[in-house]
Amino acid sequence: MTQDRQDRQSQDQRQSPGRSSRKRAEPRRIVVAVSAGIAAYKVPELVRELTRAGHAVRCVLTPRATHFVSPLVLETLTGHPASSSLFGTATPGSSDTTAAEIDHIALADWAELVIVAPATADLLARMTAGMADDLVTAVLLATRAPVLVAPAMNVNMWEHPATRANLETLRARGVRTVGPDAGELACGWEGQGRMSEPVAIAAAASLALGSDSLSGEVVLVTAGGTREPIDAVRSLTNRSSGRMGFAVAAEAARRGATVVLVAGATALPTPPGVRRVDVGSALEMRDAVLAELPDATLVVKAAAVADFRPANPQDRKIKKESLAEGGGIQLELVPNPDILAEVCRLTKEQGSHRVIVGFAAESHDVIESARRKIARKGCHLLVANDVSRSDAGFDVDTNAVHFVSPDGEVEDLPLLSKDEVAAHLLDRVAKIRDGLR
Ligand SMILES: Cc1cc2nc3c(=O)[nH]c(=O)nc-3n(C[C@H](O)[C@H](O)[C@H](O)COP(=O)(O)O)c2cc1C
Repeated sequence: MTQDRQDRQSQDQRQSPGRSSRKRAEPRRIVVAVSAGIAAYKVPELVRELTRAGHAVRCVLTPRATHFVSPLVLETLTGHPASSSLFGTATPGSSDTTAAEIDHIALADWAELVIVAPATADLLARMTAGMADDLVTAVLLATRAPVLVAPAMNVNMWEHPATRANLETLRARGVRTVGPDAGELACGWEGQGRMSEPVAIAAAASLALGSDSLSGEVVLVTAGGTREPIDAVRSLTNRSSGRMGFAVAAEAARRGATVVLVAGATALPTPPGVRRVDVGSALEMRDAVLAELPDATLVVKAAAVADFRPANPQDRKIKKESLAEGGGIQLELVPNPDILAEVCRLTKEQGSHRVIVGFAAESHDVIESARRKIARKGCHLLVANDVSRSDAGFDVDTNAVHFVSPDGEVEDLPLLSKDEVAAHLLDRVAKIRDGLR
C-alpha cells in the first residue's frame, strides 16, 4: 500500500463518525514545522484543525521549539513521530518512534505543503540564507512543496529591517505568509507580531494547497510593465512590479493548469512549472500574446501595458550635445494597440469559450471607471485596483481589489496578499468557465 493510501486510511480510522460536523477536504499531506516562539502553544490546535479537515499531518520541530511545545502532544495528535533532530528518531510514516532516523529528504518529498508555525525571526533568517542546520531548515531547503509561514514575534523584531528584508526575499521566492496579527503580545508589547489563529492558518493552507481545478486548462497570463523605447538606452515605463500577474501564474500552475507567462519589465523569478516569455514594449507583448492565444483556454491580463509609446524611437542614444544649449526634446506619443480588446474580439469571432480577465489600475473613480472599461472591452471579469493606496496596487505585496462583472455587479475583496487575491481570482474564473461550458 502506498504511503498516501496508508495515511488516508489511518486518518479515516482515527476519525470517529459524527466527531466533526465540518466538511472534510480532500486529504492532503502537510508537514507542520515548529520553531521556538511562544506561539508554539497554539500548534496542537492547528494540528487538530488540519487533521479534522482530513489531512495527513507530520510535525517537525527545531531543537529549541521543544522548550515551547511537547513533541509527545504532537505525536499523539498526528499518530506519527514528531522529531527535532536531523540525526536519529524515526522514519516518516512509521509509528515506531524508536526507529533509526527521520529521513529529511523523504519527508520533504512527501509533503504537499509545509507550514511553518510559528515562524521565529531566527528561522526566517535561516530560511532566507538557505541554511540546513537542523531538521526543520533541512526539510524546508529540500522540499519542492509550497511553503506557508506564520510569523510570530515581538513587534520590534517584526519591524526590524533585517526581518522585513528576509520576508521580502522569501516572498519573492514564492513563500506564502499568513499574519502576523496585531494586538497584545506575550512579551508585553502591543503591535503586530501575534501568530494568526489556527483556523486562519488552516484556511491559508487550503488556499496554498490549491486543487487540480484547472487541470486541462491552458492559462495565458501577462504581467509587469512595458518599456516603450525613446532611444537606444532610454524608455518610458511604469511602476508595475509584475507581482500580481506572477502570483496568478504560480497559483494557476499549482491548480494543475499549463501556464504561459508573458512578462514585461520585472525582476521576479519564474514560478515553478510556468513557461515564461519575456517581452519589452507593448507591441512585443501584443505579438507574444497573439502567438500564444490559439492554445489558451483562460487569459488573465495583469500586465500594465503602456497606453502610448514614442512615435519615433531613435536607434542610437540621443546625445545631450546634439541639442541646442539648455534645450530639451519634444516626445510625440502615439497610442499602443489595445491588447485586451483585441483578445476579446478574436475570442468572440472564433466563438470560443475562452475566459478573459482584465485588470484596471485606477487612481480615482475606481469602480465607475472599471464598469466603463469592462463594457468597452467585452471581457468576462475586470479586476480593479486603486493604485492611489499605499498598501495596494503597484510594487507592494498586498492588494485590495474589486471584481467587476459585465453587468456592473461588484465584489469587494479585503486587503489581501497578492497570492490570496490570485487564489480568489482563479476560484472566480473557474466558476465563470463552468457557466460557459
Ligand atoms: C520565552 C521566549 C519566547 C520567545 N518567543 C519568541 C517569539 O515569539 N518569536 C521569535 O521570533 N523568537 C522568540 N524567542 C527567541 C527564539 O526562541 C530564538 O531566536 C531562538 O534562537 C529561535 O530558535 P529556532 O529558530 O531554532 O526555533 C523567544 C525566546 C524565549 C526565551
